[in-house]
Amino acid sequence: MPAIDDWHRLLDGQVAVVTGGGSGIGGAISRLFAEHGALVEVVEIDSERASLVVGDIKANGGTARAHLVDVRSDAGVEDLRSEVIGEHGRVDVLVNNVGDHRPLVRFEDSDTESWQAMYSINLEHLFRITRIFLGPMIDSGGGSIVNVHSVEGMRGFPGEPVYAAMKAAAAHFTTSLAAGYGRKGVRVNGIGPDLTQTPLVDYLAPGGPADAGDELWKSWAPVGRLGWPADQARVALFLASDLSSFVTGHNVPVDGGTLAGGGWFFSPGAGRFVNRPTGL
Ligand SMILES: NC(=O)c1ccc[n+]([C@@H]2O[C@H](COP(=O)([O-])OP(=O)(O)OC[C@H]3O[C@@H](n4cnc5c(N)ncnc54)[C@H](O)[C@@H]3O)[C@@H](O)[C@H]2O)c1
Repeated sequence: MPAIDDWHRLLDGQVAVVTGGGSGIGGAISRLFAEHGALVEVVEIDSERASLVVGDIKANGGTARAHLVDVRSDAGVEDLRSEVIGEHGRVDVLVNNVGDHRPLVRFEDSDTESWQAMYSINLEHLFRITRIFLGPMIDSGGGSIVNVHSVEGMRGFPGEPVYAAMKAAAAHFTTSLAAGYGRKGVRVNGIGPDLTQTPLVDYLAPGGPADAGDELWKSWAPVGRLGWPADQARVALFLASDLSSFVTGHNVPVDGGTLAGGGWFFSPGAGRFVNRPTGL
């Protein structure tokens, strides 16, 4: 069993590529990985977000670089490969985190263009970026890939079945890739977030769910609170590091228990669990 020499530097000296690493869940992953000694390669479409995270990491004594890349672009991702492999000669950790549910299109109004957009932002780039870094990862003795998809890929999502299908495909890509490349030293696992406060899913916006108060969270999520990007980042650190050296091919819902709850809510008014919206 590989020894873990320093529990405070779980990714010491490791090269970690984080897509969408400039805000939200990806931002928290970039920061936490850097705190654990990783050389973080932040991949972003938004230069301000990338600069902010890279600046904070450097100010805290960490190491990070920003790459202004649209993960939907073959040419952009090829440049990314040259920059990362050119600098370090290897990549140890890859976090495929970019994704977006917007715009939500009712299925009966959807078309080829909206399906393609969901595919392009939620699934296709996982193939593109993973393929580009898998070879170097194998050549340097292995590594860990963490795919951030969604709890909506692990349950039915009535609001946007095409988005849910892309996220489910990302989860199954995770499982299948793990089965294929474990013998070459590459572990692959996934995270299915839910209820996490980020610029993309702003629960704290005025007029949003937060205004309904703490009672709402107690009834909504089994853990009784809103999730934070750091909740996701800690699981990503576990999956990226040797803490999980015997874990591969799994998708962890990091959702405050919503998947486990399966449609049951605690009604503070009724003082019991209910499965109907009236709380009766
Ligand atoms: N927040 C939640 O509760 C939640 C729930 C389910 C799934 N997710 C998933 O988690 C992941 C992260 O979501 P988040 O909430 O942190 O979102 P976010 O929008 O806060 O962060 C995503 C980051 O990716 C960057 N980005 C977007 N498109 C890009 C592109 N084409 N190329 C490069 N960078 C790009 C954005 O600039 C942003 O900084 C997504 O895959 C999302 O679908 C989040």
